Amino acid sequence: MSVPALPIVHSVADLRAAVKAWRQSGERVALTPTMGALHDGHLSLVAQGRAQAERVVATIFVNPTQFGPNEDFDAYPRGLEADAALLAGAGCDLLYAPSVGEMYPPGFATSVRVTGLTEVLCGAARPGHFDGVAQVVTKLLLQAGTDLAIFGEKDWQQLTVIRRLVADLNIDCAILGAPILRESDGLAMSSRNRYLSPAERAAAPALYASLRQAAEEIAARAAIDEVLARAREQILSAGFSSIDYLEARSADHLTLVTELDPATPTRLFAAAHLGRARLIDNISIPR
Ligand code: PAF
Repeated sequence: MSVPALPIVHSVADLRAAVKAWRQSGERVALTPTMGALHDGHLSLVAQGRAQAERVVATIFVNPTQFGPNEDFDAYPRGLEADAALLAGAGCDLLYAPSVGEMYPPGFATSVRVTGLTEVLCGAARPGHFDGVAQVVTKLLLQAGTDLAIFGEKDWQQLTVIRRLVADLNIDCAILGAPILRESDGLAMSSRNRYLSPAERAAAPALYASLRQAAEEIAARAAIDEVLARAREQILSAGFSSIDYLEARSADHLTLVTELDPATPTRLFAAAHLGRARLIDNISIPR
């Protein structure tokens, strides 16, 4: 049976009208913001939306303000038609795909900065990145006015930043995290995996394998600095060219953890370069 085409809106006015009509008739609405180049990880956000609400709205917007000058904004994979077909098949009800002009019209002058959580990890390696994420997510949540919004846990720091800004700015939208989806060899699904050559793709699972081993050793009370030094060696010898960070941090506040404390949920966070791709991943340390 063929899936009916997904309705697509491009303006804030049309998005608001659709969400308002659903909510007025008593339906809960979930939002799944994305930058397109969809994979099963994104579709799992839609599935979670379906489980939590009667209606699911996806957004596709490659947000220029979260890319640095030498990053992959121009190269970022785009394919609205293929993405819309995937979303329709996953049970999404509406796609919001605004233009840059709709999101940032002439005269746009407002920034959103979340301090304390954004200076470390990806924020240290990608200055300004989280200002762009905070700005666009604030806008998307306020534009859509949905009951809830779902973000992937692969970008754990992003999820933490979004939870903070939603609390601080009293945005009336519940924020839910969705577990990381992995390929069968453990590689976390990511739109940027498309940048990997076959040889790099074969090397890529070493990132998660090293994180898993490190998490187990730390849980068994090995010294965190020694474990992480060994994990770095493993990642580099698998073929990664450099590591932006490999750290243990508290899950809620992202403060550095040098000794395991059973009272503090702790995760390992990594970002490393492999060919053209910068891969990120994170894992909980069992307590
Ligand atoms: O995670 C992403 O795809 C993006 O950072 C988001 C949340 C859609 C904002 O542009």
